[in-house]
Amino acid sequence: MSEKHLAVVVLAAGEGTRMKSAKPKVMHEIAGLPLLGHALATATSLGAAQVISVIRYKKELIAEYITAFYPGVTIAEQDDVPGTGRAVECALDSLPADFNGAVIVTSGDVPMLDVATLESLLDAHLAGGFAATILTATVEDPTGYGRILRSNAGKFLEIIEHRDADTEQLEIREVNAGVYVFDVIHLREALAKIDSQNAQGEKYLTDVAAELLRHRHKVQALVVSDNWLVAGINDRVQLSEVAAELNARICEAWQVAGVTIQDPASTWIDITVELGTDVTLLAGTQLKGITSIGSGSTVGPESYLVDTSVGENASVVKTHATASKMGNGANVGPFAFLRPGTVLGADGKIGAFVETKNATIGAGSKVPHLSYVGDATIGEGSNIGAGTIFANYDGLKKHASVIGSQVRTGSHNVFVAPITIGDGAYTAAGTVVRKDVEAGDLAMNVAPQRNLAGWVIAKRPGSAAADAAQKAKN
Ligand code: UD1
Ligand code: CA
Repeated sequence: MSEKHLAVVVLAAGEGTRMKSAKPKVMHEIAGLPLLGHALATATSLGAAQVISVIRYKKELIAEYITAFYPGVTIAEQDDVPGTGRAVECALDSLPADFNGAVIVTSGDVPMLDVATLESLLDAHLAGGFAATILTATVEDPTGYGRILRSNAGKFLEIIEHRDADTEQLEIREVNAGVYVFDVIHLREALAKIDSQNAQGEKYLTDVAAELLRHRHKVQALVVSDNWLVAGINDRVQLSEVAAELNARICEAWQVAGVTIQDPASTWIDITVELGTDVTLLAGTQLKGITSIGSGSTVGPESYLVDTSVGENASVVKTHATASKMGNGANVGPFAFLRPGTVLGADGKIGAFVETKNATIGAGSKVPHLSYVGDATIGEGSNIGAGTIFANYDGLKKHASVIGSQVRTGSHNVFVAPITIGDGAYTAAGTVVRKDVEAGDLAMNVAPQRNLAGWVIAKRPGSAAADAAQKAKN
């Protein structure tokens, strides 16, 4: 079938009351994308002539997301009539009047559904000349789902919603997955005939199946191969269960691709992350958003990287980084905090208890211990002494510091920005650098040291210190 004859409808107009959230259900995230993002990624990969998403509850928020990330998707609005049937009816209004072909319907709250499952459902639908093909699953606990009624011979009869089912029907464990293929003409006709006479007072899409059979059209219900693919999220318990399963699959796929993952259960990798071969992820590591790790690098234990790129053969131990870059061979952590705009060059080091922000640290340069580097540029091969503060804030505005290449700064310095330190300069321990330092100069502004001879023995007689001093003098 040509793509001209296929449309996909993704339902996302429901409120999702069971989430008990100010945020619409389909905007809750797993693996770094909103639930709707997962559904639209699949929907837009089928090569359909049109993908339509139906929205209503918090529609501005959802429309903004769709427009930003899936600009090719048509947005349809559901009116005041509630129910999945009405939602689809509203979507069909966006199709050209002469559209003729198949309509796939999926839900914004079913994130793991994949392209292969939809393609084989579509093939089975078209091959048999069906008016509707329904995807089903046989589950341990069917609570909340629509039940699939079949004849003794196993022929599909109808879908009964949980709240409309009698006690005998509630025993049925084959459920409606909420994923369908319809012939558009038959779908339009059937939707026009169904009403809202049910426990929820909604126009159910599920009633279309029985309506089509009543008019002697062919309807089939096919069981999905893997229940996780159709797991719907209605509450936050299901949100975490599906998130864990999707994460386990993402970890496994990276392991197969050549990544060592010490403890997949405590490692969380967004679907948007890229990893090179021979990357090692140690326990408790989370990689979020547009993050990439180059070949041969080790990340973790317990590193949390958001929108951050790490080069090859780098080491990133117990580090929290956002919107940062670490070059090849970089050495970061433990207990490093890289805030947005940190760029660490090749073979550079950001060591223990160091915080950086909007800082470019050149190749081979090191900030090894207990420092804050904000709004700074550091050249190549420089070493920043332990306990250094880049004082970038005057109480009103932020200012920049520029440190050259091959600079050696002493321990416990303060660089009061704006400030420039030239190539190859030194600063003495304890210096508060308020004036620019020329290349090759040594800066020091430490007050001369005075030792008061015999002060402890005279002023603290009988103390442990005085006794020790006395002993040393004897
Ligand atoms: C629906 C099915 C049920 C199936 C289950 C599978 C119906 C009547 N029931 O139930 O048979 O077992 O999915 O997960 O279809 N939506 C709208 N407009 C509305 C109502 C819902 O767009 O007026 C959207 C929701 O945003 C959601 C999807 O449709 O993405 C399903 O709605 P939901 O309320 O979750 O239906 P279920 O009760 O799960
Ligand atoms: Ca649902």
